[in-house]
Amino acid sequence: MTTLGLIGSGRIGSTVARLAVDAGHDVVLSNSRGPETLQDLVAALGPRARAATGATAAAAGDLVLVSVPVLACTALPAAALAGKVVLDTGNYYPGRDGQIAALDDRSLTESEYLAQQIPGARVVKVFNNIFWQHLLNLARPAGAPDRTYLPIAGDDIGAKLILVEFLDSIGYGAVDDGALADSWRQQPGTPVYGTPYGEFANEKGTPADAGVIRAALAAATRM
Ligand SMILES: NC(=O)c1ccc[n+]([C@@H]2O[C@H](COP(=O)([O-])OP(=O)(O)OC[C@H]3O[C@@H](n4cnc5c(N)ncnc54)[C@H](OP(=O)(O)O)[C@@H]3O)[C@@H](O)[C@H]2O)c1
Repeated sequence: MTTLGLIGSGRIGSTVARLAVDAGHDVVLSNSRGPETLQDLVAALGPRARAATGATAAAAGDLVLVSVPVLACTALPAAALAGKVVLDTGNYYPGRDGQIAALDDRSLTESEYLAQQIPGARVVKVFNNIFWQHLLNLARPAGAPDRTYLPIAGDDIGAKLILVEFLDSIGYGAVDDGALADSWRQQPGTPVYGTPYGEFANEKGTPADAGVIRAALAAATRM
């Protein structure tokens, strides 16, 4: 079992925390307002969960989920994240995040931009393409015929293997989407973004196997 630190404990963060706790992992939650504001979530998650500052959550995690608006990526506890396997869920929405030149001109993918903010972190992109309610409801144990797959991208093979093992433990398979530079294939607006898992209106979601995810990644065209 592992400890998952979380920077951001909103819709996606709390969902991954729930899946992790259910799989027997420990979680250390954090947000922008302070650990005292996370006590209800800690109570709901049970004894495997606690809340802390972002730096403490990052230091405690064997893996650290960064699940904040992209605009907050410049304010992360970079020193505590150095050397950590960092799971990036982020999607750039200028209406929420403001204009970020390197993302507007596509000189960097969103995960490359995050990696620049936290030097030395072993960044892998995951969870960004699935609606949080589908993520909650599509988890299935290994071997289930209707297991759902998620694309993952990263430059560090060891970090990817750690992520694959973690995903397997919480109910998901992984499809390799290449390096961080390739992760535009899973950014907003691409075929793999949201669509394979069904309409948002159906909270249960639609299982998507590895072939469906591979085909969606292959159909992506650079915007
Ligand atoms: N919602 C989805 O279905 C979904 C799916 C895939 C990917 N994503 C992406 O994942 C990211 C998170 O989305 P979300 O829907 O989970 O957002 P959310 O529900 O709004 O939660 C955001 C979390 O980030 C925290 N936060 C904000 N600024 C922070 C800072 N400077 N330092 C530390 N924590 C900070 C917030 O804390 P406070 O509440 O204390 O401010 C909150 O816990 C976004 O980039 C989003 O595009 C979302």
